[in-house]
Amino acid sequence: MSNETADREEWSSRIGFILAAAGSAIGLGNIWRFPYLAGEGGGGAFVLIYLLCVVLIGMPYLFGELSLGRNSQRNPVGAIKSITGGGSLWILVGGFCVLAGFVILSYYSVVAGWAVGYAVKDIIAPTMGFQEFAASPGLVIALLGVFLLLTFLVVVGGIEEGIERWAKILLPILFVLIFLVIIRAVTLEGAMKGLKFYLVPDFSEITFGLVVSALGQAFFTLSLGMGAMITYGSYLPKREDIAISGGYVVIFNTLIALMAGFMIFPAIFAMGADPETGPALVFVVLPKVFAQMPLGGLVSVLFFLLLSIAALTSSISLLEVVVSYFVDEKQWSRQKSVWIIGSIVFLMAIPSALSQGASGAFSNMSYLFGESGLFGQNNFLGILDYLIGSAGLAIGAFFLSIFIGWVWGADYAAEELVEGSSVMTQGLVSVWTFMMRYVIPVVVFGIVMGYVFGYL
Ligand code: TRP
Repeated sequence: MSNETADREEWSSRIGFILAAAGSAIGLGNIWRFPYLAGEGGGGAFVLIYLLCVVLIGMPYLFGELSLGRNSQRNPVGAIKSITGGGSLWILVGGFCVLAGFVILSYYSVVAGWAVGYAVKDIIAPTMGFQEFAASPGLVIALLGVFLLLTFLVVVGGIEEGIERWAKILLPILFVLIFLVIIRAVTLEGAMKGLKFYLVPDFSEITFGLVVSALGQAFFTLSLGMGAMITYGSYLPKREDIAISGGYVVIFNTLIALMAGFMIFPAIFAMGADPETGPALVFVVLPKVFAQMPLGGLVSVLFFLLLSIAALTSSISLLEVVVSYFVDEKQWSRQKSVWIIGSIVFLMAIPSALSQGASGAFSNMSYLFGESGLFGQNNFLGILDYLIGSAGLAIGAFFLSIFIGWVWGADYAAEELVEGSSVMTQGLVSVWTFMMRYVIPVVVFGIVMGYVFGYL
C-alpha cells in the first residue's frame, strides 16, 4: 500500500461517513453499558448528567479528534508525527491509541460473542442460564471467533466497500429492530413505573462517582479517547463539514442510547426485576423478562440480533485503528494487516473469554491483586475494561486534548474545523477553542483522578 495521501481511501458521501462513525459510536456501550450504568445510577439522574457530558464535553472533543484526523490524513500515530515530526514523546500517546484498540477489541468481542450466542440461544443452548453459558469454554471461544471473523471480513473490504457499505445496511436494520422492541416494552402492563424511573431525575442521587461514570460513559459511547475518531476523520474529504457530520453522529448515538432505555426499563419494571443488577443486566434480567412476556421468544431473538449488529459496527472501528496504523506506517497491505492483527486479537481475547467462570485463573485473580481485586475488579475482562476501557480512555482523552489544544494549537485545529463548514461562525470558534484548551482538559483530568482513586 502506498503512503501517499492521493491514494488514501475516502468516505464516498456525507451519509456514508455519518453512518460509519455513528456505527462506531453505537454499540454495546449504548445497549448493554448505558442501561446498566443508568440502572445503578438511579435512572433519570444518571441520564441527565450523561446528556450534559455528551453535549458539553464529548461533542466538542469529538470535533477535535475528527479535525486532527482530517488534517493529517493518518492513523493516530501518523497524525501525531505529522504535527510534531518524529522523535517526540507524544508518539507514545499515538502508540497508546493503537494498543488500546487491540485491547478493547479483545474483550469487547467476548461480550459481543455472548450477544451472538443469545440471538441463537434457543438452537445452541436452550436450557443454559447465563452463568453456565459464560463459563462454557468451547462455546464462548467459538462465539468470539465467529464475531471476530465477521469483523475481519468487513474491515478487509476497506473504507467504501467494507465499513461504509455495511454501516449503511446494518444501522437502518438496527433502528427498526429497536423500534419493534420498544413498542412491545412500553405496552406491557406496569411499564409506566419504568418510564418514571428512567426519565424523572432524583437529584439526591447525583454524586461525584455518578459524574465520573457518566463522563466515562460519554467517552466510551462516542468512541473517544483512543483515536478511533482520528482514524475515521482521516478518511474525510476537505469539503465535508466536520461540525455538521459530527453533530449528526452525536445525535444518532444519543438517540439509540435513549431508545435502549425505553426498551429496557419499562420491561424490567413491568416484570418486577432489579434495575441495579450491573453488567449482567442485559444477559440475566432481560431473558427472564422476555420469557414472561407475550411474544417474548421473538422479541428476545430480535433484541440479541440487534445487539450483535450494533457491536459489529463498533468492533470494525476498533480494528480499523490498528489496521490503519500498519497500513500507513508499516506499509502492510490491508489484507495482511487484518489477518495478522486479527489472529493476535483472537489469541489475546481468550483469557477474557475464559474469565467468566471457565478458568479459575482468569476468573478470580485475587492471587495477584488481593481479595478486593484491582479497583474492585477480579476477573481478567473486568480488569481490562477498567484499566483500558474506562481509566485508559480518560487518560488518552486527557493527553489528546492537551495535544490538540496546546501542541498542535487550538487555533490551527479550529482552522481545520472551519474548513468546509457552513456553521462554524467566529463566535462558535471562540467557544470551541476555549473548551478545547481549558474546559475539556480540566474536566477530563477530574475523571482520570476519579478512576485512579477508585471513586466509582
Ligand atoms: N463506542 C462503542 C460502543 O459504545 C465502542 C467503541 C468502538 C469504542 N470504538 C471505540 C470505545 C473506541 C472506545 C474507543 O459500544
